[in-house]
Amino acid sequence: MSPHRSPRFKNPRALHNYQGRSCSIAAVGSYVPERILTNFDLEKMVNTSDAWITERTGVQQRRLAAADEFTSDLAAKAARRAMERGRISPEQIDLIIVATITPDTPFPATACWVQEKIGASRAAAFDLEAACSGFIYGLEVGQQFIMSRTYETVLVIGAEKLSSIIDWTDRNTCVLFGDGAGAVVLQHRDGAHGVLTACLGADGRRADLLSLPGGGSRQPASSRTVADRLHYLRMSGKETFKSAVTAMCTAAQESLRRCELDIAQIACIIPHQANQRIINAVAERLGARPSQLFVNLQKYGNTSAASVPIALDEAVSGGRIQRGDLVLMVGFGGGLTWGAAIIEW
Ligand code: ACO
Repeated sequence: MSPHRSPRFKNPRALHNYQGRSCSIAAVGSYVPERILTNFDLEKMVNTSDAWITERTGVQQRRLAAADEFTSDLAAKAARRAMERGRISPEQIDLIIVATITPDTPFPATACWVQEKIGASRAAAFDLEAACSGFIYGLEVGQQFIMSRTYETVLVIGAEKLSSIIDWTDRNTCVLFGDGAGAVVLQHRDGAHGVLTACLGADGRRADLLSLPGGGSRQPASSRTVADRLHYLRMSGKETFKSAVTAMCTAAQESLRRCELDIAQIACIIPHQANQRIINAVAERLGARPSQLFVNLQKYGNTSAASVPIALDEAVSGGRIQRGDLVLMVGFGGGLTWGAAIIEW
């Protein structure tokens, strides 16, 4: 029987496109910077407390990149780790996608800086911006090139130096975020389903909930935009919270429906690591058991596009995900954007 016709579950990709081939995650890697900023450190910077941050978010500490460490450095380190694990040489890489909201420069793309750093001279390279949903968007885009037989090896990286866009005087936001990067290598693997489905969505009507207003074509950089602190991330926390729960549940449920899977069949759920309370609310609505969830936000805070691949890497290295397991990744972010993907590991 063709591997795409395994009776264990429905693979919507294979049923809709018999010409395509499957796409698997061949290797995963991550990197977080050395410097740790704890809640107690933050107590000395803004009017907050470890108790408030822990209770309202679950975050205990986050990592901060050094001044001379850029998003492309974090991305390149995560990529190298994934490539080493998968025994992938730089020359094998056909395409690099970097999902980020903190590019090294507005242009050229951070993916181009990464290409140079890892020596993947054959690869095409571009950035993708879908905020915290960026990695799941990148996975869906990258796997299309494998499925269509356009490329053999695609590198998808989520990388952020959020500390560069955080207003460190704003307690509403500065306690939530951290820096880091995660990377996966996508390839076809014989006999494996790999990515079963991905559901992406966006609602531009709620673009104002989370944004960085200054420095773009709407409000080009000027002394006024700097004085008004428009180069920092802005967020309506409560509204974002509510939207996040609804969006993540909708995306996860749609993914499960397409694969005719029940949440109980998922071995590991990797949610975007934004807030423990958001994760709890999503899990409860999905009917998931706490033991199905992988959470590491207490160590890193919200690393936006990097959060899902960092968590995936830790779940795999820690033995939480075994070959053949079904994994559900689900996230949301500025845009608003959201996405979920189910993969057979
Ligand atoms: N320390 C102490 N008090 C604080 C802090 C802080 N760090 N931050 C806010 N407060 C205060 C507020 O001023 C408010 O005080 P008030 O009642 O006197 O006005 C009180 O705490 C409650 O504030 P809320 O905003 O109601 O707190 P809430 O329970 O909603 O938690 C939080 C705030 C943690 C931001 C939550 O709303 C949240 O997690 N939202 C989602 C954030 C998120 O996931 N963003 C994703 C970004 S992804 C991307 O694309 C970049």
